This record gives sequence, C-alpha cells and structure tokens, in this order.
Amino acid sequence: MRAQIIDGKAAAAEMNASSLERAQRLRARGIEPHLAVILVGEDPASQTYVRSKEKACQGAMIRSTVIRLPGDTAQETLLEKIRELNADPGVHGILVQLPLPAHLNSDEVIEAIDPSKDVDGFHPMNMGKLALGLPAPVPCTPAGIMVLLRRYGIDPAGRHVVIVGRSRIVGRPMDLLLINAHATVTVCNRLTPDLPGMTSSADILIVATGHRDTVNASMVREGAVVIDVGINRFEGKLYGDVSADVADKAGWLTPVPGGVGPMTVAMLLSNTLDLAEQRG
Ligand code: GUN
Repeated sequence: MRAQIIDGKAAAAEMNASSLERAQRLRARGIEPHLAVILVGEDPASQTYVRSKEKACQGAMIRSTVIRLPGDTAQETLLEKIRELNADPGVHGILVQLPLPAHLNSDEVIEAIDPSKDVDGFHPMNMGKLALGLPAPVPCTPAGIMVLLRRYGIDPAGRHVVIVGRSRIVGRPMDLLLINAHATVTVCNRLTPDLPGMTSSADILIVATGHRDTVNASMVREGAVVIDVGINRFEGKLYGDVSADVADKAGWLTPVPGGVGPMTVAMLLSNTLDLAEQRG
C-alpha cells in the first residue's frame, strides 16, 4: 500500500485564510491582535521557527513583536520582561520559544506567563484545564494534529492511538486531547519494553521523539494512520522521526516537510486570535 498523504500545507493555508478574516474583524472593532514572542539565545532551529511565526503573523494581519534576548540573559531579566508583557493591555498572546538555554528555569518562566495570554497552553493552569476537558488554549502542535485528523475524517474515538514521546510540547497534551476525544491511548518512552510490539498495535501512531528513524515500516501495522511530528535537519535536508519505508505500509501519512509543521504555525495564529477575541 502506498500511504495517502495528509496535506498539512493545504489545511494550514485554509486555516490561515480564516485567521486573516478573524483579524480583519477584530481590527474593524479597533482591536489589533498582537502576539509577543521571546527568543533567548542563538539556537538556529529556534531562530528559523520564530522567523516563520513572524511571517505567518504578517500574512494574517496579526501584529507580532519578537523580543530577542542574549543567550546569557538572567532568569530575573526574563521574568521581568514577561511581567511587562502581562501588564500590557495591547498584548494578547505571549510565547517563550523553547528550549531555553540550560541555565534558565523554564518551569518558572512558563508559570510567570498570565494564563489568559498563554498562547502555547503550557501554563500548569491551562494544562490542568486540558486534563479536565475544560476550555483552555491548547498547545499548537497537538491541536494542529487534531484538526488534520478531523479534516481527513479520521475519528480517534474507539481507536488505539500510540504516541511515541512524552514531551510537554507534544506527547503529553496530545495524550489529553485524545483521551478527551474518546481514544484509547498508550504513551511510550525510551524505556518502553518492546516498542515495535506497541507501535504495531496502533490504529493511529503519533511519533514525536525528535530522532530520525524512530519508527520504520516493520513497526507499523498495514494501513495505519501515521503522524510524523519530527523535524530533524541532517546534511542540509529535513527528515521526520519516521523512516521513508513507512510510506509503503501506512494507510495515511503526514509528510515532512508539509505535514504537521505548517499546522503548528496555523494553530498559533488561531490561538492568538482566540485570546484577542476573549479579551476584546
Ligand atoms: N519549541 C518547539 N515547539 C514549540 C512550541 O510549540 N512552542 C514553543 N514556545 N516553543 C517550541
């Protein structure tokens, strides 16, 4: 079987068109939707992501301010910047690009963000709400994956979903969203015994480890839905977390690039507009 492609680029373009309309409606009411992004240090991947977020905001008429701080920024300086943005009524969403340099305490940084401006949905209060199935900003990557599944008529209810990777950015919130959507969910980590046995039992397999070739065709059930969250740069090329041979075994597959990545950015715009609409 050659997998059908889940086209994240097309889905994101549609969402971004609707985001532009929402931004225009807010502007007509005198509200300029505004996302503030804090980038600490010079990590090349983070710089690329932040640039693509800026560009997407521009396309949707969302104001974006990127605050670039040096890699040796002190914890207190970063916290003070966040407090400033919390207090600024003209800022609707605050995003601190992760990972932060190792000397900074990201838990404390995330907790300093006003939960009503937490566009990433990473604040413990918003994660808690998500766990309880209450309305809250939803982390962009898992939210984007849910939109893709819905768009392709793939209902996780009653299906076995296996997530490889338990990060706070993807694996954990993905687990919560899928539980809320009535899926049976298994979350694997590097100590999971018999990972291939686990992944082979998935109707829907979500791979988010940040490592190339985490999953190959022998680990995938024929016809399964495979969501590849990885973006790994190697010798100038982009690779996902899933090997190329999976395309001959899966029923559906998100490509890298052009799968989950564009949806993450589209959801960021949509989350920013949610917060601006709630405040306005
Ligand atoms: N680093 C990688 N993905 C993300 C994300 O979705 N949000 C933030 N803030 N940092 C990231």
